[in-house]
Amino acid sequence: MSRFIPPTARAGAADRAGGAAPLDRFGRPLRDLRISVTDRCNFRCRYCMPREVFGPGFAFLPRDQILSFEEIARVAHVAAGLGVRKVRLTGGEPLLRAELPRLVAMLAAIPDLEVALTTNGSLLASLAAELARAGLGRVTVSLDSLDDGVFRQMNDASFPVRLVLEGIEAAAAAGLAPVKVNAVVRRGVNDHTAVDLARHFHGSGHVLRFIEFMDVGTTNGWQLGEVVPAGELRDAVDAALPLEPVEPSYRGEVARRYRYRDGGGEIGFITSVTQPFCGDCTRSRLSAEGVLYTCLFASSGRDLREPLRSGASDAELTELLRGIWGAREDRYSEERSAATAGLPRVEMSYIGG
Ligand code: GTP
Ligand code: 5AD
Ligand code: SF4
Ligand code: SF4
Repeated sequence: MSRFIPPTARAGAADRAGGAAPLDRFGRPLRDLRISVTDRCNFRCRYCMPREVFGPGFAFLPRDQILSFEEIARVAHVAAGLGVRKVRLTGGEPLLRAELPRLVAMLAAIPDLEVALTTNGSLLASLAAELARAGLGRVTVSLDSLDDGVFRQMNDASFPVRLVLEGIEAAAAAGLAPVKVNAVVRRGVNDHTAVDLARHFHGSGHVLRFIEFMDVGTTNGWQLGEVVPAGELRDAVDAALPLEPVEPSYRGEVARRYRYRDGGGEIGFITSVTQPFCGDCTRSRLSAEGVLYTCLFASSGRDLREPLRSGASDAELTELLRGIWGAREDRYSEERSAATAGLPRVEMSYIGG
């Protein structure tokens, strides 16, 4: 089933850059900018950075090719002028980037912009308070199982679940709440521990979201047979802890929301494969080296680093972004088929989830 909305005359509100806020070819506004601050990670999740590909010989981006904090903040400032209201820092693992709280503070100083972070949680316990003080608004932590052995099968790293749980609690204690917890589900690997995850976070104040395993990138060996449809997971959770649906909290929200009927809080399901949500997709993605992508499944993007480093003015950068967004026609998840399967696709660790 598709939720794609055809081109409409959605009004483009005036933007701070002085023109009309850009709409893409399908009438979708630009609202989110996901910023990858590093392509490195201390985990090797098999669905994202399989060790055979991202091993010791893999060439990660050299330091001088990665955008500086000043360059990132400049792009965010220009994007905010065009209607972006949320930036989300991602990676790789964003907390591996040195001095990240300094970037958070620079972004938090931009008016009307929410700053969020998606992390694997491994370094969160020690950094949560400092990130919150710097102006971070919210955090999402990836955690695929509560069972150490299953967790290792998913992330191919020896890292105790307990320390990720400590990171989640530290984030909540620092006020980065509600903490969202993302769990990718692969059939035959961690699906048998999914209901345990739901039970653990039921009543905790944190919001668990199950994500369907996606065919993002070209290295993770994705097969449709490994996708557990979110409807199946919802039914399994519902049988243990009865659920009822909740309206989306904002237009374009990727997760379908449910609440526990007993008042134990919320849970979400991200159905990129079985029920794509391209029709309301307002997201753009900036890679660590400064390439702007208008879809998670894009095969190419537009380099912003060159204009940034060769003295482009804010007005020139604004027009560049406006043009890129205005020409956007992406709706990959709705077009997914045998024909799209062979196309080149950028890796998730390069542009963040
Ligand atoms: P909030 O609603 O602000 O909490 O954030 P979010 O749900 O947009 O961010 P989060 O990083 O938690 O996204 C959850 C997951 O949904 C990502 O890690 C991806 O796996 C998936 N996702 C997010 N955006 C997209 C998208 O544009 N397309 C697809 N196909 N999947 C997406
Ligand atoms: N399918 C679904 N989700 C993925 N993520 C990374 N790779 C995939 C994939 N192939 C998720 C991570 C994390 C976020 C950044 O993206 O688990 O929650
Ligand atoms: Fe690292 Fe996140 Fe990718 Fe796992 S999903 S390898 S934690 S960037
Ligand atoms: Fe947006 Fe592309 Fe994901 Fe569709 S597939 S929701 S267009 S990022």
